Amino acid sequence: MPIQTNCKIVGKEKIADGIYKFSIKTKEISEIAKPGNFLEIKVSDRLETFLRRPISIYNIDKENEIVEIIFQVKGKGTEILSERKLGEDLNILGPLGNGTFSVKPYKRVAIIGGGIGIYPLYELAKSLKESQVNTYLGFRNKDLVTLEDEFNEVSDKLVITTDDGSYKEKGFAIDFMKNDYEEETFDRIYACGPLPMLKAVQGFAIEKKIPAEISLEERMGCGIGACVGCAVFTKDSEGNQKYKYVCQHGPVFNAKDVII
Ligand SMILES: Cc1cc2nc3c(=O)[nH]c(=O)nc-3n(C[C@H](O)[C@H](O)[C@H](O)COP(=O)(O)OP(=O)(O)OC[C@H]3O[C@@H](n4cnc5c(N)ncnc54)[C@H](O)[C@@H]3O)c2cc1C
Ligand code: FES
Repeated sequence: MPIQTNCKIVGKEKIADGIYKFSIKTKEISEIAKPGNFLEIKVSDRLETFLRRPISIYNIDKENEIVEIIFQVKGKGTEILSERKLGEDLNILGPLGNGTFSVKPYKRVAIIGGGIGIYPLYELAKSLKESQVNTYLGFRNKDLVTLEDEFNEVSDKLVITTDDGSYKEKGFAIDFMKNDYEEETFDRIYACGPLPMLKAVQGFAIEKKIPAEISLEERMGCGIGACVGCAVFTKDSEGNQKYKYVCQHGPVFNAKDVII
């Protein structure tokens, strides 16, 4: 059951231009959160930003009863959130999402993320302690590269790509994952990022028959399955199509089940 609670901002850091990390003290949520869960955050009482904004949990620190989020300022809601101060209370609802990443002792996995989609993948990579973790992160350019050191620590191999070649490898993260797959297979692929990247991962995983989990970041209203704002089409093993809600059934889906 998600919890609605006021929690103190105990850490605030600008980690790149327009990108912020908040540490939030919450015993209840840190205790039960899983990789792939997200929070619905009330940014203000103003009408224009009345709806809560969904942000993934990036890091869970059970020992210190803290969850951390990283977000990029996109519009009014995230701008107001970025102005919240250290020591202030945030009203959050969470942990949300019943579809979370599966954490099992797989032999070798690929984690692939792009842009703001890399944030929910960190807690996942951290949790896959018994697997060989290859991580592929793609960014538009050097200025948007974040969490390189953090992912390095929890990955056996880390590939960073930029679309324009301004940092590390030039190109798309998925191409580097495909190259490594030619040498040795993956037991599972996890992905979160822009839709074209997710579609490419889905196509590759289905073609090569690799189980894959993808996390979707649809626009949301309520966050709890009540407003149908985040509906996506899915199909079952017989090919019957059915709506599911990203907030309630996801955000993580089996790649073969979701129509994107
Ligand atoms: C499950 C989930 C987890 C998310 N996790 C993170 C995260 O960890 N870090 C992070 O930075 N962002 C994350 N997002 C995206 C974040 O919720 C949106 O960027 C935010 O709600 C935008 O609000 P706003 O008021 O600032 O912008 P708006 O004024 O509402 O929109 C500004 C621009 O952002 C685009 N936008 C709005 N919502 C989304 C969305 N869901 N996905 C892509 N583009 C969007 C709009 O189309 C518009 O162009 C997540 C979204 C979902 C659904
Ligand atoms: S956001 Fe309301 S149903 Fe998903």
